[in-house]
Amino acid sequence: MLGLETSCDETAAAVVERGRVLGQSVATQIPIHRRFGGVVPEVAARNHLMTVLPTIEAALAQACVAPQALGGIAVTARPGLIGALLVGVQTANALAWAWHKPVIGVDHTAAHVWSAMLRPPGLDADDWPRPRLPFAALAVSGGHTSLYRVNGPAELVLLGRTLDDAAGEAFDKFGKLIGLPYPAGPEVDRLAAQGRVGQVRLPRGMLGRSDGAYSFSGLKTAVRMHVASQYASGALPTGAERANLCADFQAAVVEQLLRVTLDSVRRHRLRDLVVAGGVAANCGLRAGFAEACARARVRFWPVAPAYCGDNGAMVACLGEALLRAGHRDDPFTLDAQATGEVRRAATVPAAGAP
Ligand code: KG4
Ligand code: ZN
Repeated sequence: MLGLETSCDETAAAVVERGRVLGQSVATQIPIHRRFGGVVPEVAARNHLMTVLPTIEAALAQACVAPQALGGIAVTARPGLIGALLVGVQTANALAWAWHKPVIGVDHTAAHVWSAMLRPPGLDADDWPRPRLPFAALAVSGGHTSLYRVNGPAELVLLGRTLDDAAGEAFDKFGKLIGLPYPAGPEVDRLAAQGRVGQVRLPRGMLGRSDGAYSFSGLKTAVRMHVASQYASGALPTGAERANLCADFQAAVVEQLLRVTLDSVRRHRLRDLVVAGGVAANCGLRAGFAEACARARVRFWPVAPAYCGDNGAMVACLGEALLRAGHRDDPFTLDAQATGEVRRAATVPAAGAP
């Protein structure tokens, strides 16, 4: 399966066979958008247009797979930046028609979740441990913070989500506040490892509720007020103060994610928890979840760091599972959708709830 991802600022393609990545290529636009402090949609779309075909060619060449040998083409069709999505979807439609292959449009968040099924990099086995269905999956990225009950590749049931910012968005906005370049998440993670927790009191938010909702706006305001009160206008924290602030901010994000998620997992009586998406690469999050899951006797399935950020392999992996389950789209009607819930998403009451 060829997987194609162009929903935001990475043009990514990969060839996957039964969960094994045979070849992949990513053309990142981060340096292009960095000077604007965030992704500029129209600039993103125009760059996808230039990189999409060379990226597909590179993935096919690395996999040593000819187009004729493909079983299908999977593409992120929703949600995302409309112009960026359109490039991927129309490319996939055209190639599917020209090569006589099935095309499968997938949800970006569902693809992040399903990346837990990919063979971890560096492993050569034909079989490897995977989460058992149904499992809980927390998708934490720049655009999403949602918890699902995953019953199968086409059935993700929404258990809870953020009321405002996504976790990655909170990391990026906090980083911008203290002068870090976009996207700030990885840099906050690196600095937090050098800092000491407990220097600044920050709110955790959303604890003590039972609706599975997350929220990061209170934390964002608290940290903004702290920076404004501690530093004269224009001045920014540096050195150990900056590292400590990163450590406290990260601890607050991780603690809320952890407590709300494990509460929902327990309420819905699930035994396996996947954590996927860009923020799942965060070292503090991985360590915190590993420890808390072990205590709660929940099997923890963090996606391999190499597949946490946007990539083509996750799209191909979900596409394979969907095709096997009988899904396929029409290349003449498959269209990009800027918004839209994960396929068949719905909110369900917790097990035992009235
Ligand atoms: O999944 P992704 O690549 O794209 C979206 O679907 O949004 O996630 C990107 C987000 C960005 O907000 C980025 O700052 C964040 O993931 N991120 C991290 C880390 N690596 C990426 N946040 C915290 N710690 C990290 N190590
Ligand atoms: Zn993503």
